[in-house]
Amino acid sequence: SQLAALDASKLSITKTTTPKELTPPKELVFGKTFTDHMLTVEWTATDGWHSPRIVPYQNLSLDPSTCVFHYAFECFEGMKAYKDKNGGTRLFRPNKNMERLNKSSARIALPTFDGEALIKLIGEFVKVDDRFIPDARGYSLYLRPTMIGTQKTLGVGPPGSALLFVIASPVGPYYPTGFKAISLEATDYAVRAWPGGVGDKKLGANYAPCILPQLEAASRGFQQNLWLFGEEEYVTEVGTMNLFIAIKNKETGKNELITAPLDGTILEGVTRDSVLTLARERLAPKGWEISERKIRMADVAQAAEEGRLIEVFGAGTAAIVSPVRSISYRGKLVDCGLKEHEEAGEIALQMKNWIEGIQYGDEPHSWSYEI
Ligand code: COI
Repeated sequence: SQLAALDASKLSITKTTTPKELTPPKELVFGKTFTDHMLTVEWTATDGWHSPRIVPYQNLSLDPSTCVFHYAFECFEGMKAYKDKNGGTRLFRPNKNMERLNKSSARIALPTFDGEALIKLIGEFVKVDDRFIPDARGYSLYLRPTMIGTQKTLGVGPPGSALLFVIASPVGPYYPTGFKAISLEATDYAVRAWPGGVGDKKLGANYAPCILPQLEAASRGFQQNLWLFGEEEYVTEVGTMNLFIAIKNKETGKNELITAPLDGTILEGVTRDSVLTLARERLAPKGWEISERKIRMADVAQAAEEGRLIEVFGAGTAAIVSPVRSISYRGKLVDCGLKEHEEAGEIALQMKNWIEGIQYGDEPHSWSYEI
């Protein structure tokens, strides 16, 4: 029998009869308020993808035995819709999110789908809830595509049914008063991901175990934790973001922008890829070396001691870039190169401006997708 593909032309729309009041943009807290509607598509192993629906935002009703609650059949994406200066709406590299969601979903035996079809559906959903997209720089509509297994069984096996849904939350700038450089604690007693594991997939199960080390770091006064890996103590990620380190390379004497390679332990961040691409296009011609390579925390600390650490920043969809002031490592504070009055380094600032320029459509670019 032929399983149905995800088909955007089968979309039905049921509008809410109780539209919400908009939250004033300045009062928005990340991920706390949601739009009037949601997009849902059911999947069954017998029929494939059912007809997509846009319905009023509502609770899900799931049997307590549903497999998502027991064995973590869940994966998700984070992406944003932006208002451009002509009132148009844009997504940023949505194909990257579709690719990654398909990889995440396949890894936990949930269904895959036609990414083009879901981009179209997300476009329709965002149009229905258009009034919720704040139209100021730094503001956007955060989109959360999610896939869950919905089979009712405690048996451990591939789910025979799934639900793909997308919800949307208007969000403000991550740092409403401008950049705030954060201090990190290098975590040496827990690892986020490991070779052969699933750290490169956006599974909900990767996030829950990261809260405790982050609380530990917070209890000692650090805003986030830095994930190290292995005896070599390679630096991998910061909190839920990819990490970039700018140093003056001792051997080459050149400035080098470094991030961990995609060896299966690193999330394939869309912002990570965007920073790398822009750096290769726009910084390499100015003499920068751009490297996806492993770097040990001890080497970062040594670079700092020798005055060769230029700057450090996290990169992710929520904040774009998050500058780092210092890293607590083996009882010492590694200074990450910012001057006392500075909240961001030049590269982080440059990247934020370049990426926002593309996201809001000020710079015409193939990464910006008009809906
Ligand atoms: C990001 O966009 O940086 C994230 O991964 C945060 C998200 C899990 C809320």
